[in-house]
Amino acid sequence: MDRIRIVGGRKLNGTIPISGAKNAALPLMIASLLTEETLILDNVPRLADVAQLERILGNHGVDIMVSGKRPGETADNGQTLHISAARIVDTTAPYELVSKMRASFWVLAPLVARMGDARVSMPGGCAIGTRPVDLLIMAVERLGATIDIEGGYVVARAPKGLRGSEIVFPKVTVSGTHTAVMAATLAKGTTVIENAAREPEIVDVADCLNKMGAHISGAGTRQIVIEGVAKLRGARHAVLPDRIETGTYAMAAAMTGGDVFLQNGRPELLQAALDVLVSAGVIVTPTNQGIRIVRNGAGLAPVDVTTAPFPEFPTDLQAQLMALMSCARGTSHITETIFENRFMHVGELTRLGARIQLEGERATIEGVPHLKGAPVMATDLRASVSLVIAALAAEGETTVNRVYHLDRGFERLEDKLGRCGAAIERLSG
Ligand code: EPU
Repeated sequence: MDRIRIVGGRKLNGTIPISGAKNAALPLMIASLLTEETLILDNVPRLADVAQLERILGNHGVDIMVSGKRPGETADNGQTLHISAARIVDTTAPYELVSKMRASFWVLAPLVARMGDARVSMPGGCAIGTRPVDLLIMAVERLGATIDIEGGYVVARAPKGLRGSEIVFPKVTVSGTHTAVMAATLAKGTTVIENAAREPEIVDVADCLNKMGAHISGAGTRQIVIEGVAKLRGARHAVLPDRIETGTYAMAAAMTGGDVFLQNGRPELLQAALDVLVSAGVIVTPTNQGIRIVRNGAGLAPVDVTTAPFPEFPTDLQAQLMALMSCARGTSHITETIFENRFMHVGELTRLGARIQLEGERATIEGVPHLKGAPVMATDLRASVSLVIAALAAEGETTVNRVYHLDRGFERLEDKLGRCGAAIERLSG
């Protein structure tokens, strides 16, 4: 199993290209199931989760062709996928595939909307809490599907097609909103989604669906309205930049000090996180091409942050902020309100010398002058990358084990950081 070895203490200086967003690419690929025609997606990141979803879609009969390299293209350009679900040969998503990646459960909505039935394994346990799917099931039920749970599978049936309806989410859910939007595009009549998630990835998927002929308005607000259509067609769409990758490297630069330009990063996608960095004393300069992050000699001021749905501070940057605050001059507080049990990084950061107390969903972080390198590992993507951030500033050597978690969501991490001067290398085996 690969490991990453980091020798801390070097400032980061240079440019980091930001990839397409994992959490937009995955639902966009799933949306391809809604049409017989080809969906072309540009700027798709090369990630383990994308490759895994390619296998899952392949099992339903979807053909995916990756465009070859064009002149002038480098590894910094995302890949272009031509996805064709001309003939869906199987509407079952088996346990072996769904249990490897939760987002693959989302195939439920397009399959039942287009084919009239879907049989999708319940995703099962997850490292960041229980993560139920009750609201996804509620959404397709509201649109007229009947639901049975059979042998660990959710079986959705709508032989006469789905019908538009009102869907009121009792809590904000990204997966529930994606499900409701995708299912409603092919439902008969109008669907109104109340208390919808407002994440930029919801807007990106709605934009793509509209290019495919859907009638969706209000994406990015609390109320989304969808006029169902009989058929969707092919389209071409570029995946928006990854706001979590942007925020992660911003925090890495804040951690080590230095001057880093996050090329293609879009400030409006992570304003709450940038505001936190500014209040910690980091200089953040948005430009048309990206975001510049500078920290001079001055220490970091502590912060008090609570995670919440967009546009507030994202749970997917909580672990990285905690790593950063472990070196602040004073005591910080971070409260996690989205996922219970998303604190696997705490024990490992402590191994690097961080002082963190957990009380329920609230962490108190007492800044220390120096972290010290150690072997660490984590069981989740964002937790793993928080250990990388801590290691970049720690004295001495850190090995981060179980690198496959990082490969799920960060494209060429060691290359991007290495080009800015970090002493970081991947050790195979
Ligand atoms: N929830 C329910 N019932 C449901 C669905 C969700 O109670 O049926 C709860 C969840 O347990 C959680 C809250 O609602 O407490 C929010 O969950 P949400 O559905 O918004 O999360 P998700 O769609 O499963 C996506 C991202 C996550 C990100 C969250 C929150 C993808 C593939 N995943 O998950 O990303 O943390 O939204 O922004 O888009 C990651 O990339 O590392 C990651 C975990």
